[in-house]
Amino acid sequence: MSGTAMRVLALESSCDETSAAVVSGTAAAPRLESLVILSQDVHRIFGGVVPEIASREHLTAIVPVTRQVMSDARCQMSEIDAVAVTHAPGLVGALLVGVSYAKALATAIGVPVIGVHHMEGHLFATALEHPEAVPPFTALLVSGGHTLLIDVEAWGSYRLLGATRDDAAGEAFDKVAKLLGLPYPGGRHVEALAHDGDPKRFRFSRPMLNGGQRLGDADYYDVSFSGLKTAVLLAVRGSDDLDRDRPHIARGFHDAMVETLVAKTLRAARAHGRTRIVLGGGVACNRTLLAAMQEGAAAFGGEVFAPTPRLATDNAAMIGAAALFHLERGVRHDASLNAHASRPIPGLVDATAPRR
Ligand code: KG4
Ligand code: ZN
Repeated sequence: MSGTAMRVLALESSCDETSAAVVSGTAAAPRLESLVILSQDVHRIFGGVVPEIASREHLTAIVPVTRQVMSDARCQMSEIDAVAVTHAPGLVGALLVGVSYAKALATAIGVPVIGVHHMEGHLFATALEHPEAVPPFTALLVSGGHTLLIDVEAWGSYRLLGATRDDAAGEAFDKVAKLLGLPYPGGRHVEALAHDGDPKRFRFSRPMLNGGQRLGDADYYDVSFSGLKTAVLLAVRGSDDLDRDRPHIARGFHDAMVETLVAKTLRAARAHGRTRIVLGGGVACNRTLLAAMQEGAAAFGGEVFAPTPRLATDNAAMIGAAALFHLERGVRHDASLNAHASRPIPGLVDATAPRR
């Protein structure tokens, strides 16, 4: 499908990043003109995102962030064809800031507003840097709030194969980081510490991964990390010298996490005959995960694509790229656009229910 080139101003405020981007071109050939991401550092002192503080920070940041992105793109408001905004899922108070501002701005400049699903945005992020990261592909979205394994047959046509039964992958990284006394958000610290660990000192069981699982089993693609987190907790409590054991425990956790995510993703790619695997979400910044996925995929001629950290974590560029696709299909929203804490990705068929 090829559409008429458009220029979209995109906004993202679903969690603790206030971001704006100017994305132009077509869904098949999107071009990132400028991107600004303002991360709210304030949450570090609380060890997690405080929703009301996040909303207030978005309110302060959204106008200057938008001005900056327009100036970086050397673009006037008169050159914008639509305003795109994340409207689900996320912290409602945080989403409302972006949605309200996007509607007001679109009305003021006389262009349509379009609401984009945050997780669909993550599916589009990688294609902004890797033009080959286009459907059909297997997607693994791993962030602080989500762990989704999706078969992407075409843009707009998604099959949810698996998800986490409890903690999201990033959440498990953050909780384990806390147990090990590392700063929040802890994913990259756990990865770095695990490098120095001995893989044989702590071997934790692989969550929801065993050779007896068969295609069609409810747990074939799903993951679960709460047991792994408890295993880490018990290892920390049982250690007589935590300073000595910390890297080894991190390594044990990291190996279990990576092996599980890789095995489940490769199962999905093989079962659907996909040769491309696309990673997204903050945990896609993990180089060990990427390397292991590449090694596993190479065995069947598969290729793995991951965005660079600024497009893996929350950003407005991905919202702009997804918006180009929907705009080309004629989607336009109006003043009734609202924010939703949770809602399915448009075009998603849930295939996770046990088949009986
Ligand atoms: O996508 P994201 O920026 O925000 C959410 O939507 O949640 O993801 C943030 C998550 C955090 O849990 C963080 O610890 C994790 O991504 N993360 C990592 C790494 N870098 C960030 N996890 C593992 N390894 C990393 N290198
Ligand atoms: Zn995200």
